[in-house]
Parts: sequence; structure tokens; C-alpha cells
Amino acid sequence: MPSVFIKTYGCQMNERDSEAVAAQLVAKGYTLAKSEAVADVVLLNTCSVRDMAERKALNKMANMVGIAKKERPNQIFGFMGCMAQSRGQELIDKLPDVDLVVGTQKFHRTADYLDEILAGRRDKIVDTAAEEKSEAAIREHLLNGNAQKSVSAFVSIMQGCNQYCTFCIVPYTRGEERSRTIDDIVAECRDLVSRGVKEITLLGQIVTSYGKRDIATTNGKSAFVQLVDAVHEIDGLERIRFTSPHPKGYGDDLVEAYARLPKLCESAHIPVQSGSDRLLKIMHRGYTRERFLGIIEKLRHARPGIGISTDIIVGFPGETEEDFEQTLSLAREVEFDQAYIFKYSPRRDTPAADMDGQLSTAVKEERNERLLRLVNEIAARNYEKLVGTQVQILVEGPSKKNPARMMGRTRCNKIVVFDGSDRHRGQIMDVKITRAGSFTLYGDPDILE
Ligand code: 5AD
Repeated sequence: MPSVFIKTYGCQMNERDSEAVAAQLVAKGYTLAKSEAVADVVLLNTCSVRDMAERKALNKMANMVGIAKKERPNQIFGFMGCMAQSRGQELIDKLPDVDLVVGTQKFHRTADYLDEILAGRRDKIVDTAAEEKSEAAIREHLLNGNAQKSVSAFVSIMQGCNQYCTFCIVPYTRGEERSRTIDDIVAECRDLVSRGVKEITLLGQIVTSYGKRDIATTNGKSAFVQLVDAVHEIDGLERIRFTSPHPKGYGDDLVEAYARLPKLCESAHIPVQSGSDRLLKIMHRGYTRERFLGIIEKLRHARPGIGISTDIIVGFPGETEEDFEQTLSLAREVEFDQAYIFKYSPRRDTPAADMDGQLSTAVKEERNERLLRLVNEIAARNYEKLVGTQVQILVEGPSKKNPARMMGRTRCNKIVVFDGSDRHRGQIMDVKITRAGSFTLYGDPDILE
């Protein structure tokens, strides 16, 4: 059977989609290749959220087909995911050696399409059509051979986005919001737990919008909180996380869930994007700075020490120095444990791309730098405060940077590296923090048995 190599760009949803496609291919008898150089089929799962991500995937593909022409004439190439969705046939026009383009509602068709291409029945396939119920088609997992995922798995609960933030391409690449049923999601989670998974992260573009159209609020609990409650019931599951919520949908029922549900980890990734009310409005975010700060305050009250991370865009069209200072002051006020900062990148078909006041690269870079420095300073100070404390970690597997050591995550989602061995994988244990590095903590090995 052929071998396949999948390279993924972008977010955790993309990682999850790639994993499901890989699992579908393995179920058909494909093997997973170690690199593109030895694979019969190479798939790039793409991201469109910023121009850089698109360019990386395009360059990678151009490079690979160039080498294949000389060295591996039978290699098959495909684009999947967001850029495949937004560009479709255009990708093959540009790179005629590409064989397959599968959009975001067609991941589950990839295996069949590859069969047809490999059997010589079809030459080129482009499928970016919408498909009903495709949101429920991302369900297979590849636990074997992947230390991390067999401890901590991601479950896709919905697809698409209806928020239409003026900077964002996602509603155009992922389509309208569609949610899976609670029963379907719980069944997938149960199966994962029966296979040894200890932690589940529920995934969606905006998880707080989960099931809005189909599941009525009951006893003050939104559909999403009902889902978290149902997942919480699963015996053997130790930890629950989710990403990403939207501040707009962060109701008191969700805040209260943190106080009520012990498996729900005290960690929240809440994208704020800007600290300026003026910009939040133009971005079409649907909340104010004050509302965001209110949510953080309530969460910290419900779970003191909760880890808070965020996404921030710098250099949105028309962002003034005052707007940017509002973002700096918000970062100071909240003291994020981690913030992902993005330089605004104009995306096709989005309103912000045509707005007046587009800023220069130099301004974006300068603001990026200033905010990064501030966020890092604050995080370093707060990480340092954890030295000497005891924290609970779930051990996921070998550390990526140093595979001779093991890594786990605290409930607040901080990475802890320590001297351990594979027998610790999947264990929940207490470690003492001895040292803090850049967004990494180091644990004391002495307290291990
Ligand atoms: N430019 C820069 N960053 C963007 N993001 C989304 N769209 C853009 C864009 N056009 C960022 C947002 C989002 C994260 C996943 O990517 O901060 O939360």
C-alpha cells in the first residue's frame, strides 16, 4: 500500500483535521511516511488566516513538485483545508503538478479521491463543495504511535463561524457554523477514554456558539455548557479543556461551570484582539474592553490562579497610537500568562482589507515588538513566582525540545519539563517547580518514585 505524509499549517483545528485524514488513510492500509522525501503521497493541510501561512504552503508545494519532477515522478501531491477551499482550481492552474485539492467540508473524501488518482481512474480532482453533516466527519483518531495524543486528545465539536470579524477569512473558508450532536461528541470522547486518553480538548472556531441553533438553553445552561456537563460525566476522563471561546458568548453559566466542574481545567484561551473599544467595534467583535475585563475578573474569582491566554492583532487598519496604548494597558491590567500576537494581514474578501488607514509593515513590526516585550516581561515575572510551588501535571510524553526528558502540563496549561521516563506517561502527578524558563517550567525529579 502507498505511504502518505501530511504537513499541517495553522491552528489546532487543522492539526485535528490532518489527524483524522491520516487515521482514515491508515484504516485503508496506507502507511505514514517519515518525510515528504519518502512518501508516495504528500498532502499539505493549509491555513489562510494570514498571508504568510498561505505563502509558506505555496512555496513548499512549488519546491516539492520541482524536486519530484527530477527524482520522484510518480509522487502524488494534494492541498487540503482553508487555502484549498478559498483558492480551489486556481491552485492547480498555478501549480499544474498538483493532483488533488480538497476543501474544508471534504476532508473525509480524501482517501477515496487518492484511491481514484492512484488507480489512474482520474487525473486531477478539485472538490470544494459544501457537504451537509461534514461537521460530524472528523472523528477518527490516531492514538497508536503518538505518545502525546494517546494521553491528551482533541475532539472537533463544530465547524465554521458566523461572527464575520472584519479582519477574518475563516467564515469564507470554513463556512457557516454547524454543530455535532452532544451524543455523537460524547460517544467519541468515551471511546477515546476507553483507549487510555485522560484529557480532552473540545475544539471549534467559536465553541461558545456550539449548538446555538439546535439545542435550547436549559436551566440557564447554554448548549455548550450542556455539552461540557455531558463530557464531564465520563468515568476515567481526568481533564477537560476547550478552545476557543468568544468573549461575546462567555456567559455566567460558563464561568459558573469552572467553579462547579472539577475536571474542567483552570485555564482559558480567550481571544481579545484589541484593547481599544473603537477598534473592537470596527473589528465587529461584539464586546467592549470592559466586558472582557469583567469576564476575566469573574473567572479569577471562580478559580483563583486560572491560566489566561489570548490572541491580539496589532496594526489593524486605522489603529492609532492611542488605540495601541489601550491594548498595552489591557495587557498590563490582565497579565496574560501567554498572548499570541499577530500583525494584521489583509485577507481577500474581508471588509478590513479595503478599509482606509492600512498601516506600514514598519509600524506593525514596531507595535508587535513593543507588545511582545511587555507580554513576555509580565509572563516571565508570573512564571518565576511559580518556582518553589507544587503543581499537578498530566504527563504527555517526551519533551519536544529534549526527547530525553518528559513533559506534562499543569491544569493552568503551562508546560513542565522533568527527568522522567515513559512509565510516567499518562500519569497525573505532583511536581515541585525548580526553575522557570521562557513559557516553560522545570520540575523536580526527586519527588518521583
Ligand atoms: N491578520 C492577522 N491576524 C489575524 N487573525 C485572524 N485574522 C487575521 C488577520 N487577517 C488572528 C486572530 C485570531 C488568530 C487565530 O489569528 O488573532 O484569533
